[in-house]
Amino acid sequence: MKAIRVAKTGGREALSYTDVPDARAQRGQVLVAIEFAGVNFFDIYQREGVYPVPLPFTLGTEGAGTVVAVGADVSDFTAGDRVVYQGVQGAYAALSVVPADRLVKLPDGVSTRTAAALMLQGLTAHYLSSSTYILKAGDTALVHAAAGGVGLLLCQMAKLRGAQVIGTVSTKAKAALAREAGADHVILYTEQDFALETKRFTDNRGVEVVYDSVGRATFDQSLNCLAPRGLMALFGASSGAVPPFNPQVLNQKGSLYLTRPTLAHYVATRAELLRRAGELFAWLAEKKLSVRVDREVPLKDVAEAHRALESRETIGKVLLKI
Ligand SMILES: NC(=O)c1ccc[n+]([C@@H]2O[C@H](COP(=O)([O-])OP(=O)(O)OC[C@H]3O[C@@H](n4cnc5c(N)ncnc54)[C@H](OP(=O)(O)O)[C@@H]3O)[C@@H](O)[C@H]2O)c1
Repeated sequence: MKAIRVAKTGGREALSYTDVPDARAQRGQVLVAIEFAGVNFFDIYQREGVYPVPLPFTLGTEGAGTVVAVGADVSDFTAGDRVVYQGVQGAYAALSVVPADRLVKLPDGVSTRTAAALMLQGLTAHYLSSSTYILKAGDTALVHAAAGGVGLLLCQMAKLRGAQVIGTVSTKAKAALAREAGADHVILYTEQDFALETKRFTDNRGVEVVYDSVGRATFDQSLNCLAPRGLMALFGASSGAVPPFNPQVLNQKGSLYLTRPTLAHYVATRAELLRRAGELFAWLAEKKLSVRVDREVPLKDVAEAHRALESRETIGKVLLKI
């Protein structure tokens, strides 16, 4: 089968479109013919070696497709089921082996394309808005990179929960999309001082929560956007990692809370995974949530997909078509 392998970590030249032996399902596993794989920053970090994986490895941790075969002791899935997953290595490939307990069946009406575009970023926006901080009417959230994959979904979910949303983006085109996703105010953080603007939009009060996936470039100023006892959810590092931090700053800036959450800990049990995914699918069916696919790239052109995400030009999800 065809797969994207990394034998030596590095730049996009490390991505190799190659033939590997077909994967096979063992006990408790399901063999999935992947139709679409999600492209995520996580994949770039693995390719670069920032998140180490034993070499060589098949890239990609998010995919949707059809069950081809099941291993012993698998009773919840049969051949032909349409499924999606995230958090399992090897999705940039024609076939992928997935533990049955990490797999989610797709309801009628949700395509494998939509599911692959939604799973990782949708689950992330879900836990951020309903668990890391439980958004409610009366709250204001600052969402950085509001036109990004997570950003567009997070804006919509924050609005579903009744909160006000201030979004930051780098271009006017992205600003329009963030507004469409529900952002009440949008700041061009490449041109404007976003902390000043946030204070202005909140009558100097500050926001209850900042969702910061940008990291190094925004972290310090993000703390200045929070109301006393506000929560900083630093969940990514698209501009680079935040340097070591003195907790005394949290005291000085208003008894703030800081968390660095990650999806795996918010879908740690099958029940939690199914509950969050079920809510995402229900919102799709009720047309309360929409998923924007920025582009679909053939598997063999994976380097182009990585380039687009790294170069900050995407609005929404990048998919690989297998
Ligand atoms: N912790 C978790 O559970 C979790 C889960 C999913 C994703 N993440 C993280 O969340 C972040 C967003 O993921 P995503 O897939 O939705 O990506 P994305 O937001 O679609 O893309 C990244 C965006 O970040 C902004 N950005 C600011 N500075 C940048 C820079 N120097 N280089 C590149 N982009 C920059 C850009 O938006 P503007 O042009 O508008 O600035 C860019 O479009 C990533 O860091 C990812 O690793 C974390």
